[in-house]
Amino acid sequence: MKRSNKLFGISAIFNSPNEIIHAAKVIADYGYKNFDINTPYPLHGMDKAMKLKPSKLGYITLAFGLSGALFAILFMFWAMSIDYPQVIGGKPFFAFPAFIPVAFEVTVLLATLSTVIGLLTFVFGFPNNKQSLHDTNYMKKVSADKFGAVIYADDQQFSELKVKELFSSLNASSVELIYYFEKESYPIFQPKFLMLLLAVAVVTSGTTYFVLNKLLFMTPFNWMVYQDRLSAQEKSEFFSDNYGARPKVEGTVARGFLPYPFAGQNIPTETLVNPLLPTKEVLKLGENKYLSFCSPCHGNYADGDSRLRGQFPNPPTLHSTRAREFSDGMIYHIVTYGQNVMPAYESQVTREERWAIVNYIRALQRAKNAKESDIKELQMGLLDASK
Ligand code: HEC
Repeated sequence: MKRSNKLFGISAIFNSPNEIIHAAKVIADYGYKNFDINTPYPLHGMDKAMKLKPSKLGYITLAFGLSGALFAILFMFWAMSIDYPQVIGGKPFFAFPAFIPVAFEVTVLLATLSTVIGLLTFVFGFPNNKQSLHDTNYMKKVSADKFGAVIYADDQQFSELKVKELFSSLNASSVELIYYFEKESYPIFQPKFLMLLLAVAVVTSGTTYFVLNKLLFMTPFNWMVYQDRLSAQEKSEFFSDNYGARPKVEGTVARGFLPYPFAGQNIPTETLVNPLLPTKEVLKLGENKYLSFCSPCHGNYADGDSRLRGQFPNPPTLHSTRAREFSDGMIYHIVTYGQNVMPAYESQVTREERWAIVNYIRALQRAKNAKESDIKELQMGLLDASK
């Protein structure tokens, strides 16, 4: 690229990090403002030597990060509390702790994107792609193994003679005059560059297509796809009835599972006996499971004070005479198969946990309807929870 005869700046090459830091200090002390240092790797203490102020980029990051947080929180507030309020696990509509992860992500996203875009536009002046230091001997050296300083001609104090003198007093190993490029700017979208973009697009999409649609179906990558197994609902030639899904062999019992003989019956017989004693561990387990699975509807103390804000019918209190007179088996049965609108919990709560919940409900019931004798026993330290 041709250069004009208008001076852009004067550059000097130094051989060691110590020399360039010293040079930077001297140049800054002389009062030059518009100068630059180029080194092949970052040097500690350089910004201090050059008397650089902290970068303004941080303000862009801060402003966009804060607006990201604000936007995320306002948006979630609007969506979750105004536009489409939903009870999730009995939490309030504006459940701030649940919003933190999303707000954090949006903060980080906006902060990082704005930093990169700010760097490219405000600091590097994109889309301007012309910089007269490009393509100079100076740039070749400082991007390999030398250290360099440039003082730009538009600095207020600039005088060719003085700058040259300064560099020679600093023992610069070579000094170079750099002139502006002849043309003011170069188009970004040159045909060559556009062809390169096109080539990259074709190669990446071609490779992706090949990998996802062809390669994965070649041996050995296809071993996962074609294996001796049946998908759900698929026919099997192996069995005479052609059913792929086989019924359980009669009398099989799955591990950890006990057959329940009262399925579909309304009233379990009194033969369904609680196998767990109300020990501390069992009550702890029962409390834990009750609070997770039952309390959103039944309330923390089984008073029927649902946290679902009327989005599900409120259950009756479990402290009624009716509920207190239920056998343990009856409560177990209700938890297992549900009752009217109350859903079944067989698939979510294990058999043992269901019995533990029954014990916990018994403890709640007894606590709310304590007898005179309970108080005496409590005072004497004799309270036996299993009674
Ligand atoms: C989605 C809300 C909801 C959840 C969760 C829930 N229940 Fe219920 N429960 C109800 C409703 C509503 C009723 C009343 C059903 C009816 O009309 O018979 C009820 C009834 C009951 C009854 C019978 C009360 C009576 O007097 O007839 C018992 C016992 C019971 N629930 C225990 C539990 C236990 C234990 C859990 C936790 C495993 C639980 N429920 C979880 C809503 C719920």
